[in-house]
Order: sequence, then C-alpha cells, then structure tokens
Amino acid sequence: MQTDLFGNTIVETSKVINVSSVPQRSPFRYPGGKTWLVPQARKWFKSCIGDKLLIEPFCGGGIIGLTAAFELYFPHILFSEIDKDIAAVWKTMLNDDCNWLVKQIYSFEPTRDNLISIIDKPEKDCKELALATILRNRTCHGGILAKGSGLMKKGENGKGMFSRWYSSTIAKRIEAIHQYSSRMSFIEGDAFDVIQQHMDDSDTAFFIDPPYTIAGKRLYTHFDIDHHKLFDLVSNIKGHYMLTYDNVEDVRKMAKQHRLQYCTIPMQTTHLIVKKELIISDNFDWL
Ligand SMILES: C[S@@+](CC[C@H](N)C(=O)[O-])C[C@H]1O[C@@H](n2cnc3c(N)ncnc32)[C@H](O)[C@@H]1O
Repeated sequence: MQTDLFGNTIVETSKVINVSSVPQRSPFRYPGGKTWLVPQARKWFKSCIGDKLLIEPFCGGGIIGLTAAFELYFPHILFSEIDKDIAAVWKTMLNDDCNWLVKQIYSFEPTRDNLISIIDKPEKDCKELALATILRNRTCHGGILAKGSGLMKKGENGKGMFSRWYSSTIAKRIEAIHQYSSRMSFIEGDAFDVIQQHMDDSDTAFFIDPPYTIAGKRLYTHFDIDHHKLFDLVSNIKGHYMLTYDNVEDVRKMAKQHRLQYCTIPMQTTHLIVKKELIISDNFDWL
C-alpha cells in the first residue's frame, strides 16, 4: 500500500477478474455493469458485517446489490434508479406483476414485428414498460437504452437482432430475484436524495456507481450528475461506502480534495482491453 503527497492511500491490485466465474444474477445486459467487481465487493461486504442495510443508489442492472441479497451479506438491500424504463423493470420484478412479466418473456416469439409492437405500444403501464425495456436491452447495440442507440441488425455471430435474447435465462433470473423480494426494496428517484436520507446511519453501507464523467453520456439517458456534490455527500457518510469511478485525473483530484482514499482495480472491457478503474472507500482493510 502506498500513500501519495496528500496522504491519500493508493492501493494497486493487479489481477484481472474472469467474469465468467461470477454468477450472473441481473436480467440486464448493463453497459458499465460491475460484474467484474463482484469478487472485490464480496470482500468489502464481509468488512461491513453488522450493517443492517446496503444501498445501491445508482443501481442500473444492480449486480452488486443482487449479489449481496442472494448471498445474504446484508439483512436488506435498497436500490434506487432515476431512469423510468429501468425503474419499471425493478418495480415489476419485486411486485406481483412479476409473474406476468416472466410469462411474457417465455412466450415472446422473437420476430421484428412482435418486438416493434411491444416497444412502440403507446401508453404502457409499468409492467408493459418493463417488458419493453428488457426487450430493448437485449436487442439494442451493447444493451444501451439511451436515445440514439439502435436495434442490432447483424447481432452476434451473424445471428441477428435476437442473438442476445435468451428467454429462459432472463426469465429464470427475474423469478430468482422475485423470490428474494422480501429482502429488497426499490425507489424510483434521485440517488442524491437517497444518499442524503441515509448518510447519517452508521449501520448503512453504500455501493455507489454513478454514471462516469466521460463514458456516461453515450451510455445512459441520465448521465449528467453533479460529481462535486456527490463527493461532498460521500465524504459525509457515517458508515461504510464503496464508490467507483473512471480512473482519470479530474476524479482523482476530487478524491484528493475531499481527502478520500482510493485504489485502482484492473478490469477487462468487452473489447478485451485491460484498464484500471478507481475505487474510493472509507477504508481498504478489506482488500
Ligand atoms: C454506471 S451505471 C450503474 C451500473 C450498475 N452498477 C450495474 O452494475 O449495472 C449508473 C446508473 O445511474 C443512473 N443514474 C443517473 N443519474 C441518476 C440519479 N441522479 N439518481 C439515480 N440514478 C441515476 C443511470 O441511469 C445508470 O443506470
């Protein structure tokens, strides 16, 4: 472990995680998803022993919170997300409409016309929006749901737009999540409000994965957040936290300004490029 000029701890880890060894629990194919961080997150969860709640305020596909719920690291997990399409999926998975969603996924006949009629249906209720979102997530390039992202034409291995539509895998993941619904809650809303409401609770842990400063714009409908305000909030959290960011000078500077400790962890992108991401935490004894 090293310390920089400002007294910030800088921990360098070198091993790249093989994501195929990590159980995939999210029904989403989420851009910027944190499956690769699961082994490190498990170590962190263990250091949070005794905490009553884990909050994942920018949840997206929520792989870290789902892992914590399924592997019983915390009594309860609270997810929040501001994107109404993603929120519809979480709400439906956790409520009684989950059955309907699962049936629709199993019975969906993968043709372009069927896809378009579900996606383009006007005035969808929450469960219909959930189905449309899952379908879009599986048929758009890179799972990107932001405006401007198009349906795949060739798909993977030339298998067309449904090359990522594994209906029974997706349906089973959703059913499994529903089985754990008493241990999970979801709020459609602003992560900043959720953090503010719980930052004084010393027995609450936060896994915070905001849209990154550079890539966020292309990947998410809601990408424009106040990073300085987030650092301010995080530096006032009383309990445990783990915050992830892109490893760029501006972010390291904000961490230093708030005297927050960080480390870098290597990950492999979908294009097999190894790059480092920044992890900021209240302590690194768990690493
Ligand atoms: C980096 S992604 C999270 C990915 C997630 N950790 C995973 O593994 O799938 C960031 C998410 O934050 C959401 N988001 C952006 N601004 C938000 C806000 N103010 N409140 C809540 N969620 C927000 C985006 O819609 C996006 O889903």
